[in-house]
Amino acid sequence: MSTPHNNANIGNIAQTVLMPGDPLRAKFIAENYLDNAVCYNDVRGMLGFTGYYKNKKISVQGSGMGIPSIAIYSYELYKEYGVDNIIRIGTAGAISDSVNLRDIVIAMSASTNSAFANQYNLPGTYAPTASWNLLSNAVKIAGKNNVPYHVGNVLSSDTFYDDSDSLALWKKMNVLAIEMESAALYMNAARLGKNALCILTVSDCPFRGLSTTPQERQNSFRSMMEIALDTAVCTNI
Ligand code: HPA
Repeated sequence: MSTPHNNANIGNIAQTVLMPGDPLRAKFIAENYLDNAVCYNDVRGMLGFTGYYKNKKISVQGSGMGIPSIAIYSYELYKEYGVDNIIRIGTAGAISDSVNLRDIVIAMSASTNSAFANQYNLPGTYAPTASWNLLSNAVKIAGKNNVPYHVGNVLSSDTFYDDSDSLALWKKMNVLAIEMESAALYMNAARLGKNALCILTVSDCPFRGLSTTPQERQNSFRSMMEIALDTAVCTNI
């Protein structure tokens, strides 16, 4: 069996999947953290691997950038491949003054300017939310690993280059950081009765005109990956 975007067979993919945006990050995790990793997908270069971390079967797969892309890949993983847990690991821009370059942001909820929720025809505003089991484990692990982290609301934006200067408005609502995928992942998980969490590392501060070097991104990516991998190990769902 396969889908239009994934040529894995049923059983090739673990119940828990880590999803970086960049498929080469998925390859990096497979090569540096997983034992006996096998590549299960190469359609459109959106690489996916399954291997073992601390004896637990785990998959890692790229999601691509933006809500439509992560929505396709996560929907197929949940619906067609029986995946129960997806942990997104990605980068974000700081919005709140309390969030600094290289900090980790664990997205308890994800506001959005996307129309993704329109498909559900809800008579109000839906609040995309992380799964408590994954969230509480990730927060415990981040605390133990002694890394600077924040837990709160992020903005999943449809625009990276934005003409509207709207970030200040989101800042007034105490949104911590901006990225482009979490809200759709949380909505897919909710709709399909599955679990999701997004863990982000701050790669830039739009208000302060700061950004990380590629080397700094690599190092802070490792702290985030380790939180995500240990969260995957302690989930029994
Ligand atoms: N905007 C949107 N997505 C991002 C950013 C940003 O500034 N930084 C990392 N992902």
